Amino acid sequence: NNIQSPFELIGGEQVIHELVDAFYSRVSRHPDLAPIFPDDLTETARKQKQFLTQYLGGPSLYTSEHGHPMLRARHLPFDITPRRANAWLACMEEAMDEIGLEGSYRKEFFQRLVLTAHHMVNTPDKPE
Ligand code: HEM
Repeated sequence: NNIQSPFELIGGEQVIHELVDAFYSRVSRHPDLAPIFPDDLTETARKQKQFLTQYLGGPSLYTSEHGHPMLRARHLPFDITPRRANAWLACMEEAMDEIGLEGSYRKEFFQRLVLTAHHMVNTPDKPE
């Protein structure tokens, strides 16, 4: 059939890989995020490429290898504060800009990520 998935609309595997690499390069330099991530982000990035592929309607790469995503549960070992959710989203928005992701699906993709990121929050911000 000729109905494209969002995965195909944004440019498929190559674009997901560019986006995820640009994203984790920012995460690794972000003062609020770097401390909770491993120093070597190779495996994290590999899983995120698998996850975002299926999140956008491409092949179920993440589930085939790791089972049901249960994303909120998998984030419970980490303090995900509102501040970190916003930092995560800022890194993603900048990564989208860097790779020149444009077009009708970018907005919708980002809005879904905003909802998912807020759903991951499990810890309040520390009062200043
Ligand atoms: C894993 C942080 C939001 C998808 C992780 C890890 C951390 C983290 C620390 C573990 C990295 C590792 O040990 O390899 C955060 C923070 C977020 C956030 C601070 C802010 C809200 C999201 C969102 C998504 C996502 C919105 C999906 C759209 C994933 C995936 C993994 C992961 C797929 C790998 C899970 C696995 O180990 O199989 N995240 N995350 N995260 N995150 Fe997030």
